[in-house]
This record gives sequence, structure tokens and C-alpha cells, in this order.
Amino acid sequence: MKPNNLKEINNELYLGRYSLKSLVEKYQTPLYVYDEEDLLSTIDEYKETFQSSKFDTQIVYASKAFLVPDICDIMRKKGLMIDAVSIGDLYLIKNSNFSLSRVIFHGNNKSDKELEYAIKNDIGLIVVDNLDELSRLIKIANVYKKEINTLFRVNPGIDAHTHKYIQTALYVSKFGESIYDEEKLDQIMKKYQSSKNVKLLGFHSHIGSQIHEIKPFLMNIDKMVTFTKMMETKYNMKLPYLNLGGGFGIKYLENDKQVSLDILLNKMIKRLETKSKKENYELEKVFIEPGRSIVGRAGITLYECGTIKQTYGGKNYLFIDGGMTDNIRPALYNAKYSVEVTPKHRGKIVVDVAGKCCESGDIIAHNQLIDKPNKGDILVVYATGAYTYSMSSNYNGQLKPAVILVGDKVKIISKRESLEDLMDSFVGINC
Ligand code: LLP
Repeated sequence: MKPNNLKEINNELYLGRYSLKSLVEKYQTPLYVYDEEDLLSTIDEYKETFQSSKFDTQIVYASKAFLVPDICDIMRKKGLMIDAVSIGDLYLIKNSNFSLSRVIFHGNNKSDKELEYAIKNDIGLIVVDNLDELSRLIKIANVYKKEINTLFRVNPGIDAHTHKYIQTALYVSKFGESIYDEEKLDQIMKKYQSSKNVKLLGFHSHIGSQIHEIKPFLMNIDKMVTFTKMMETKYNMKLPYLNLGGGFGIKYLENDKQVSLDILLNKMIKRLETKSKKENYELEKVFIEPGRSIVGRAGITLYECGTIKQTYGGKNYLFIDGGMTDNIRPALYNAKYSVEVTPKHRGKIVVDVAGKCCESGDIIAHNQLIDKPNKGDILVVYATGAYTYSMSSNYNGQLKPAVILVGDKVKIISKRESLEDLMDSFVGINC
């Protein structure tokens, strides 16, 4: 739950050699802080563990979790691929000197403009979502006379136990086409067979996010291998790539159970080896797309503690200088977080940590027993590295916080928004 290099010295919290107090004094609050070593060591663990002597493996960082140029740079140096979901992602990644030939392009409603941009920039792989998209892609590829490598997204129908907003592989999910929809798949495969430029290399599935059990991932492997082999035979095609998506859960609370990455990845590799052998499926390359589990634990958010308000109804609120604009997850998914005050004090108090927005739902954490903070102390929220900055907004005129990467040195990887930035989009009226 806490980043590797977080420690307490004389009642004060430090990240590496920097006290959180010194970081806040220099970079203000709210502040997203990433532990560089934690991030790098997680990537290394993925790379070392997800390996097989039977087939190639490729880790693809799911950039929707957190995307800034420095992250692209880290992924490039570590040899990871990156996934993208829109032309905006592609543009940012490209302008971070990350070659789009190492990018996998996702999305359930890619526009022609997005497909053209991807093709012009020699995208690595496109994950096609549906027949209409495939038809449009074939037309565009013919215009550009370029060979395009694709995977097709299918829905294997697996009920992974997670929040319903982040389940993706139920029969009614909006992503991909069901592996049971034979008629539609038939149209899709025939379309591929008739296309000169658009190649199908295999299938993609992603069964949801923040999944804590091993079983759904193994079920996904079983279903996908069987399905791919069946499609190879039925359509007399070679489909040697398999992309299993991401979704590996992390710990947000001390008592959350967490499957160790090592165990999970080893089991997945073993299952891929045995299942493909059993089905006589010549698997050449497997992709996985972790997002949250790469950046989640490495990130924390620091806020300044304001007033503690005691309500007539008996509830205490600790007011902080950010909230749902920098972390929408509690309001959107009922997500839970662990919090801590630094420096430490003797007295304790139970509070709801409330943000600044005009929404009763703007609560970052409910019923937290914390050290009673003085005004100006720092509130740390743990495991905020994924889907916080990337889902942040300017609601209620809130400025997006700065993001810093803390290693031997401290680097600002995204600057704090200014009031002037808020006016950037408005033209015409006295601007
Ligand atoms: N691959 C695909 C195709 C995906 O759609 C996703 C996540 C991932 C990989 C990465 O999943 P991860 O390893 O991060 O779980 N905003 C939500 C999570 C949405 C996930 C969307 N897709 C949250 O804050 O929990």
C-alpha cells in the first residue's frame, strides 16, 4: 500500500531522503508524489517474472492509469510498450519521443481521424473493437497502402468481482464482440480474409480492473486459448498473438488482500504453457497490459490540513485543499483509501476527509482514525498513483496539482496549473 521508500523518522514522514514537509514547502499542495525506485522496481518485477521459454512475452503499460512524458521515457528505457486510447494519448506519447511503433491503440469508438493518425505514424498494433471499425480501417489502410497489424478485441464472458463500472467482460459489456457471437465473428473474419492490408494476428481480451483473484485470469487464458485455436482451425489462419489485458489489483487498505505479482504472473505463464500445448496452439507472443499495478502504489497525494469542522450531527470533517477534482475515485467507485497525518501528534480523532468541492460526495476517506492534525499539517493519501491525475478535472475552478518524481533528486514531471491556464480554452470575450 505504501511506496517502498516511505519511512518515518522522529514522527515525520519521509520519501527517500526528502521529508514530505520539505516537498510541500517547495512544491505546495495538493501534490502528487511518485517514488521513482518503487515504480522502476515494479516494472523490473514484471519483466523478470512474466517470461517463458515457450513463447515471447511483452509488457504493455496501460497509460490510462497515468500518462505524462516522463512516464513514456521510463517505459521506453525499460523496453515496455504503451497502450493508448485516443488521438490525444497518441499525440502525447509521440511527442514524448516514444515511437508509436511500440504502441497498442485501443478504444471502442475510434474515429477515422484517429485511425488515420495512427496509420500515418506507423502504429504498432491496433486493437479493433467491432465490424464497423474494421471496415473503416480497411478503407483507410487501402488509401495509405500500408500494412496494418491488428488484434481483435473479444469478450470472453468472465464475471470478475470488481466494481461494476470497471467490469469489462460481461455479456452486456460495450467492449469488443462476444466469443459466443458466431454470426458476427464470421462476418469479421471474412472481412479480414478479404483485406490485403489489414492483418489479424490474434485476439485481445481485458476482463476488468482491480481484480484480486487469480482464478478469473486463468479462466481468461483457458477461454482465449481454446477460442483462438478454434478460430485458427475454422478460418484456416495463423493467429499467433494473444493479448490478455490488465486488471491486476493493488492494496488500497492495510487489510486488503493482495495476490503477489510473482505468484500471479508465474501461474499465468504456467497456464499459458500447458493450455496452449494441450490445444496444440502455436502461441508466439503474449501481451499483458498492467496499468494500476505499475503506478498505483508508487504514488501518494499530499494535501494541507485545514479546519476540522464538528457538525451538529456529531460528524467531524477534516477539510483538505483538494478532493474529487484530483481524485474522483471515492465519489465514482466508492473507492477506499488509507490516510495518515504528518507530523504525528499524540491526540487521535475520527474524521471524514472532505474535499473543497460543492458536493456532499466529495469525501476522500470516511471514518478515519487519524492523529489530530494542526492546521497546516500534511495529510497523506496512499496508493493514489493510478487513475487520479489522469482523471482529474477543473470542476469548481480547481487547478490541477503538480506531479513530482522523487528519486535521488526531485523532478517536476507535470507543473501545477495556474489561474491563467484556466483561461486557455476561451477565445473572443476579452481574452
Ligand atoms: N487494458 C485495457 C484494454 C483496459 O481497458 C485497461 C483498463 C487496462 C488494460 C489496464 O487495467 P489496470 O491494469 O489498470 O487495471 N478508472 C478506473 C479503472 C478503469 C480501467 C480502464 N481500463 C479506476 O480508477 O479504477
